[in-house]
Amino acid sequence: MKVTVFSAKDFDRRFLDAANASAGGHQIDYLDVRLSPATALLAKGSGAVCAFVNDQLDRATLSILAELGIKLVALRSAGFNHCDLVAASELGITVARVPAYSPYAVAEHTVALMLSLNRHIHRAYARVRDGNFALDGLMGFDMRGRTVGLIGIGTIGIEVARILAGMGCRLLGNDPQPSPAFTALGGAYVELSRLYADSDIISLHCPLTPGTRHLVDDAAIAAMKKGVMLINTSRGAVVDTKAVIAGLKSGTIGYLGLDVYEEEGDLFFENLSDQMLHDDVFARLLTFPNVLVTGHQAFFTIEALTAIADTTILNISRFEATGSAAHEVSVERIA
Ligand code: NAI
Repeated sequence: MKVTVFSAKDFDRRFLDAANASAGGHQIDYLDVRLSPATALLAKGSGAVCAFVNDQLDRATLSILAELGIKLVALRSAGFNHCDLVAASELGITVARVPAYSPYAVAEHTVALMLSLNRHIHRAYARVRDGNFALDGLMGFDMRGRTVGLIGIGTIGIEVARILAGMGCRLLGNDPQPSPAFTALGGAYVELSRLYADSDIISLHCPLTPGTRHLVDDAAIAAMKKGVMLINTSRGAVVDTKAVIAGLKSGTIGYLGLDVYEEEGDLFFENLSDQMLHDDVFARLLTFPNVLVTGHQAFFTIEALTAIADTTILNISRFEATGSAAHEVSVERIA
């Protein structure tokens, strides 16, 4: 099958070419541009498109893809919030994703953000290189005995829980679908109000849905412990960034670690170091010493990229052979 890959980076080419050589045999056309209504026509002649997290899979784009006869959108991500599943279903387009590639990659990055913020590694790195070996402002706390609240304990959340249980943390969780694996680690499922009130660290691992959009807003932050550490490696819009900035200014949020940002589509995955930053909200975030932002890199390990490429090729091959992808996202998953 001919496949057009949008938002293709060098690492996508490398890993998809390897997977395709061993198990695919598809004709792959790589495009640097993001998928949007303005670029969708570039997929002409393909049977499938392959998209990443900041590609625009709204009704307008999907309608153009449907007119081109494209029947499969193969997402090379676990999240599918950027795809209008209702429109895809109505237009007869199958959407497939990579449900679990390396939960360890994201879980480990999540804990890296926690530890870096706690021990001020980002500040210490810059200080030491400047010949400043003073310890003022670098005091941390033991993770052991601290209460960590996890919102969303699915594939990734449970791995975060495993690492933190190993560090001696007390675990609270909130998830509409409780898992015995979490309670087996000593975790307790609680209402959000209790999780907010009791947690020293809160980490988000739920999907972005209409129900979780701006879950962390002014009211949620007001219910949190003073000085809480908030970590978001899920999807940017689960957090209301303006509310979080207000929380940082008031001191309710003592530390903020983000791998995702609600307006990241205009920033992340590109080298913009020669340009002016136009996003004033993001620019304000970067002024806080207790904020650490990474550019959606939690997934970025060798193991994850290998698994993403293998599953993407499997989705495409299975769809070509049977009309069904290996890991389809159904419209019922929107909540
Ligand atoms: P998953 O589907 O395995 O688990 C999500 C969990 O969230 C489920 O247990 C679900 O019941 C729960 N959930 C749903 N709605 C909820 C709500 N309102 N409150 C609390 N829990 C709720 O998903 P997975 O693979 O663990 O991914 C989690 C998040 O991580 C997703 O947002 C995904 O987009 C994001 N992600 C981020 C990456 C990165 O590089 N930063 C890479 C991969 C995923």
